[in-house]
Amino acid sequence: MTLRGFPQSAVLTDFGNEKGDDIQARQFFVGGNFKLNGSKQSIKEIVERLNTAQLDPNTEVVIAPPSTYLEYAVSLVKSKQVEVSAQNAYTKGSGAYTGEISVEQVKDVGATWVLLGHSERRTIFKESDEFIAEKTKFALDQGLKVIFCIGETLEERKSGITDSVNQRQLKAALNLVKDWTNVVIAYEPVWAIGTGLAATPEDAQETHKSIRDYLAKELGQEVADSIRILYGGSANGKNAPTFKDKADVDGFLVGGASLKPEFVDIINSRQ
Ligand code: 13P
Repeated sequence: MTLRGFPQSAVLTDFGNEKGDDIQARQFFVGGNFKLNGSKQSIKEIVERLNTAQLDPNTEVVIAPPSTYLEYAVSLVKSKQVEVSAQNAYTKGSGAYTGEISVEQVKDVGATWVLLGHSERRTIFKESDEFIAEKTKFALDQGLKVIFCIGETLEERKSGITDSVNQRQLKAALNLVKDWTNVVIAYEPVWAIGTGLAATPEDAQETHKSIRDYLAKELGQEVADSIRILYGGSANGKNAPTFKDKADVDGFLVGGASLKPEFVDIINSRQ
């Protein structure tokens, strides 16, 4: 059987759906978002740890160092299993846009992914749904893969509008992006980011399922079934295995713990 919807050859197992058809499991994916942290020394240590550790060969791993260290991280990575991502990229290839980094430059230094729509970009830097959607379309059109982040604030969760917030953020991108093959979605509830209070596996599963149902409505069931949906927000080496049996949690986007040795435990948490 050929892989459906995955940009890279992956080691996958088959499972059947309710109708008894053979469908493909999604490859487990773990991303490390270093945010504005790190130095040459610490990034070298992190990448060398990934180079020497036994990583579950079924996990796709992507690390996102600050843009100043993208090329350095690329140069250190030894395994094809580990790719490098930018944390942001603008909607133009080049020009008078002081302070921005371009998709072309990200690709030029050997990175293959970009994180877009992170809640810190949305809240601190006031990026709108539409702007993030434009960046997503531009990056995909230029051949980068995208980790597209969505998620609600605590207030929004308390008001019971989690699903509609996620759908609003997705809808802006769905309006512009027709091919979702090279997109991984990261559901990161804002209240769980950096707080030490991860969502429970049950709450994450419920929201991931709603996201997938929404994608099925917009893109069709087959495409929705092929899209990885990661959980992000205080994921760590201890809690990652507790998400193991959640059907719609296809991996993690990790902040703080991606800087530590336990990142390897998260990568291996499906074993
Ligand atoms: P923490 O894992 O530090 O909570 O951060 C999550 C995150 O924002 C990853 O993008």
